Amino acid sequence: SKKLLLDVDCGVDDAQAIMLALAAPNVEVLGVTCVHGNTTLENVCKNTLRVLQACNKLEIPVFKGAAKPILGNNLSAGHFHGEDGLGDAPDPNAPGLDRLQEEGAVSLVATAPLTNLALAVRLDPSLPSKLRALYIMGGNTESRGNTTVCGEFNFAADPEAAYIVLKDYHCPLYLACWEFTCYNKLSWEFCEAWLAQDTDKARFMARIIRHSIEACKSESLQKEFVAGTGFVSCDSYAMAAAVDDSFITESDHYPVSVELTGTHTRGMMIMDTVGFLKERKAFIMKKVDMEKFKQMMIAALK
Ligand code: BDR
Ligand code: CA
Repeated sequence: SKKLLLDVDCGVDDAQAIMLALAAPNVEVLGVTCVHGNTTLENVCKNTLRVLQACNKLEIPVFKGAAKPILGNNLSAGHFHGEDGLGDAPDPNAPGLDRLQEEGAVSLVATAPLTNLALAVRLDPSLPSKLRALYIMGGNTESRGNTTVCGEFNFAADPEAAYIVLKDYHCPLYLACWEFTCYNKLSWEFCEAWLAQDTDKARFMARIIRHSIEACKSESLQKEFVAGTGFVSCDSYAMAAAVDDSFITESDHYPVSVELTGTHTRGMMIMDTVGFLKERKAFIMKKVDMEKFKQMMIAALK
């Protein structure tokens, strides 16, 4: 079976991605590490435990990671995910934080700002060589930002961390970038049928997703979502790629890096299609099997 380690800032699409992994056959989720991002680190830990509880998987260890980016201040994405990160759909039975844990061929899936991963490789430079592959939702390929003019949230929330990770994780690297996820939205018709499944997981998802669906449909956020309408479950693409090797049907293979300074471009991903950069190359998702994706999303709520 595939062994996955997940690094999340558990917002609504992280929840969907985690549920996708937990429902996948032949996948063992070894643990989940939490990092600041969509909301505070404390909320991220709570949310992760809530998602595991909704899936009856509280035995999976959850770890508390970095609360702040390497430089600068925290971002948050309450306008999209809700202030608490999970749609402000309170849960009186949420598991307590006392469940948090102190501490082969494993793949790592990061769907959050990359602070934990950057700190981890500084503490143990041999870590990347122990990984089968690293899958990241983050960065952009057309300079379209969703957080700053040119910055995608996970890279913009900690540009130095993204820089370190792209430079120092010398293992196969797969990227689900922002514009790609926008070009592959889930239609509203699909979402309706997906959420109407008669299961506790679907009812849990229907509660936490409401806020994000309203944000997706709102006039002010429409421009962010690049093309067309529908729900963008960004993190689930990185997870689906980690779960199923045949999910990606076409990818670009270019050196990638991140802007650390620039009047408008701090946090923007650079993809060198010309050949100037000596940086290692990443596989940048271009086409994926959307039928498979929908099946995995449906299975996630079964
Ligand atoms: C990323 O930012 C977060 O809000 C989402 O969970 C996703 O990881 C999209 O830019
Ligand atoms: Ca995320």
